[in-house]
Amino acid sequence: MASPKKEILPPPRHIAIIMDGNGRWAKKRGLPRTAGHAAGAETFRRIANHCRKLGVQYLTVYAFSTENWKRSQEEVSGIMKLLGRYLQEALEDMEKNHVRFRFWGDLSKLSPELQQLCLAAQSRSGGYQDVQVHFCLNYGGRDEIVHAARALAEQVRQGALKPGDIDEALFSQYLYSANVPDPELVIRPSGEMRTSNFLPWQSVYSEFVFMNVLWPDFSPQDLDEAIAEYHRRSRRFGGA
Ligand code: FPP
Repeated sequence: MASPKKEILPPPRHIAIIMDGNGRWAKKRGLPRTAGHAAGAETFRRIANHCRKLGVQYLTVYAFSTENWKRSQEEVSGIMKLLGRYLQEALEDMEKNHVRFRFWGDLSKLSPELQQLCLAAQSRSGGYQDVQVHFCLNYGGRDEIVHAARALAEQVRQGALKPGDIDEALFSQYLYSANVPDPELVIRPSGEMRTSNFLPWQSVYSEFVFMNVLWPDFSPQDLDEAIAEYHRRSRRFGGA
């Protein structure tokens, strides 16, 4: 008897991930936390590549939050070094990978060298058509909303806008995510079930998938599983 054909569903257009669990992964192995972040950076490479193969158009990752500055100076500088190294390599491999880079967050607090690398990665990858990666760096969802509110208030002060002109569509244009569709799927590995100031505006209709795997161990199969879970849920946007 012929086996029933497995339906191949398209992946979500936009996937967002909280890359959590690096510290616990390292602790379990008796390694410094920075080793966990280094392993996490490798996982990011694998997952970004898998997204590209699946045809995901946008991948947004929480790489460093506005709260992460509270960590030890050693850990913060370790993460910054990893990001710098990653971007340097991404610039070298750009023609091979065809990934388009964007950065969401207040980059002004990063070192001038890292800011330069972000700018170079963004401008030199602008023409690529494969997956578009958003690195959330010194990103906080509330901070993003405050920035947008300030910019709009300034427009009103200058008389360019009236308060009544401000609606959801206009507000969205003042967020880092302007012109990017909201993520259909937000994944948080590591067993924590919080959103931790990640994309509060953009995720109001997202499906959240929380998984019991630490980020450095997160595999392409785990991503496939999260996508399958997303497809199993019905998405009605408040309708019947
Ligand atoms: C959360 O795990 C992870 C971070 C705060 C940093 C994420 C950074 C990376 C994956 C490395 C840089 C990324 C790239 C793509 C080059 P945690 O430290 O909070 O883990 P824990 O909850 O187990 O302590």
